[in-house]
Amino acid sequence: MSSTIESVLHENRHFPPSAEFAAKARVSGMEAYHALCRQAAEDYEGFWAGLARERLSWKRPFTQVLDESNAPFYSWFADGELNVSYNCLDRHLPELANKLAIIFESDNGTVTRVTYAELHRKVCQLANGLKSLGITKGDRVLVYMPMSIEAVVAMQACARIGAIHSVVFGGFSAKSVNERIIDAKARLVITANSGVRGGKIVALKDTVDEALAMGGCESVERVVVFKRVLHEDGPWTLGRDIWWHDLVAKQPEVCEPTWVLADDPLFILYTSGSTGKPKGVQHSSAGYLLGAVNSMLWTFDYKPDDVFWCTADVGWITGHTYVAYGPLAVGATQVIFEGVPTYPDAGRFWKMIEEHRVTTFYTAPTAIRSLIKLGGELPKQYNLSSLRLLGSVGEPINPEAWIWYHEVVGGGRCPIVDTWWQTETGGHMITPLPGAVATKPGSCTFPLPGIMADVVDEAGEPVELGKGGILVIKRPFPSQVRTLWGDPERFKKSYFPEEFNGKYYLAGDSANRDAEGYFWIMGRIDDVLNVSGHRLGTMEIESALVANPQVAEAAVVGRPDAIKGESVVAFVVLKGARPSGAEAKALVAELRDWVAKEIGAIAKPDDIRFGDNLPKTRSGKIMRRLLRAIAKGESITQDTSTLENPAILTQLQEAN
Ligand code: WT7
Repeated sequence: MSSTIESVLHENRHFPPSAEFAAKARVSGMEAYHALCRQAAEDYEGFWAGLARERLSWKRPFTQVLDESNAPFYSWFADGELNVSYNCLDRHLPELANKLAIIFESDNGTVTRVTYAELHRKVCQLANGLKSLGITKGDRVLVYMPMSIEAVVAMQACARIGAIHSVVFGGFSAKSVNERIIDAKARLVITANSGVRGGKIVALKDTVDEALAMGGCESVERVVVFKRVLHEDGPWTLGRDIWWHDLVAKQPEVCEPTWVLADDPLFILYTSGSTGKPKGVQHSSAGYLLGAVNSMLWTFDYKPDDVFWCTADVGWITGHTYVAYGPLAVGATQVIFEGVPTYPDAGRFWKMIEEHRVTTFYTAPTAIRSLIKLGGELPKQYNLSSLRLLGSVGEPINPEAWIWYHEVVGGGRCPIVDTWWQTETGGHMITPLPGAVATKPGSCTFPLPGIMADVVDEAGEPVELGKGGILVIKRPFPSQVRTLWGDPERFKKSYFPEEFNGKYYLAGDSANRDAEGYFWIMGRIDDVLNVSGHRLGTMEIESALVANPQVAEAAVVGRPDAIKGESVVAFVVLKGARPSGAEAKALVAELRDWVAKEIGAIAKPDDIRFGDNLPKTRSGKIMRRLLRAIAKGESITQDTSTLENPAILTQLQEAN
């Protein structure tokens, strides 16, 4: 057990919402929360249908609610028609045309503000531009953009014309871009000539060029390039590449939305699984949007005068739901930030909260921990009195970081919502309602109303409170992944395995419920690592390593890390002799860069060990448990009698 989990299980402090917060909250007090849960339990479909009617704007109202006839390919509100971009923009215009939609702060501190009317115009013009290039409903558009107003415009423009976006995080490699283009058969790529992070230029367009040159990308007809920075650009492919500003220049400022069916795909987002190949998580239009709106209202207790700031990149699900869609769907003013928390110094977040009068701040435990390390007293130099609510996402938050966040950032007055969810769930699943639930540091507390989460054993039977088990969702919910792009079989196998009658949605996490029923997430039960809140498949990194001509075999495990949550440790067998000294060090550096090129810098192993072999059972199975112990520097106390070649353990214990 890691020290985090150890300390979490002994955590028993309660932080009830203040009377002042509860009094103004949308859901105030536990009785109100329980009432919503009861409503959902008594009339599940009626509960969701009511919310979908009240909180979304429909072109054509739905008459069907949940359709389970083709389980586990569930369908929600099937015959309803709507448009997500209409819901995020047009419906606000009568009242909110001049309200700020986005306050964008660039890496170097330049601030750009756009109102709802201006954002609507930008989205319409790009949507018309995309149409002029022949993009229509159902076409896939790959978006590879820096954090910017235009990244949101690109996503919203796709939504407006019913095109399916596939956003790839700007830190992913050319190879990753290439694979995602091929898998989704994208017709168009939207990128920027460059992005800027921490004062450094990130050459996105060059990476797209490289990705397209790798072959297999014949589906791509055009590349739209936003000019983010003025500099000497790389090669320009005539007939394929087109500047964003040229594309939109003469486009009309209105664009009739393309009405889509509720379950028509809004986007695909690739995420890591337990095989080497990332999964294309396919989300619906209406169900997904409902999840985004509900959680803006329930979890973030959204109020019209809020200034909302989610620090996630649009390349991740958090940036989809809580940057590109959720805040706009409720008509919020939000901050979008291009840069990194530590540039020009570790006070950047706090300075921005002060300057933009942020009320709701949503970030990841890894960011909190690194900022504590770099300047635990820094927030005190800023006026953070505008804050009223704090959020955490991506991994369990250790109680120490929670308490710091609460005291030092939140001044002891802001509730913390620790939100458990996944790429596949589209929006929050288990999280406190800040005006109702007394929080406990390290617990994501209780499921949102209508989310039937439970902890079960291997046979799918509920476990007693206090006993750990497997986290499942027992009923389909609207914002749930609809399928894996092009791979329905993998969808079934990954999330609705036979062991649970194919009925329960298996999240891939283990969890515990304490005596009061609070949920505590313990971590993944599959071969997926959580590094700085990002999901990485061990198999994906292993495949990247063995693709190197010098590598014969590789095994990757996670090691608990004080800042990143988990770090990547790779055990490598070379085709040639096992190197040592300077030679080994050079090869470690080479393989780290290799993985960065294959996947992206986030997947670089923190530690690489060389051995003549890997510890295997006589039947040839790699003993990962042993490797995890070695990675942690623990002495081997486990039974090694089934091991084929015990001598290699000593080799693997040597650091390079
Ligand atoms: C996995 C999902 C959800 C958006 C960011 C990550 C872990 C996420 C929490 C939390 C404990 C958490 C789980 C989950 N996770 N949030 N509040 N407490 N664990 O999305 O990349 O799809 O990863 O992140 O292990 O399964 P993702």
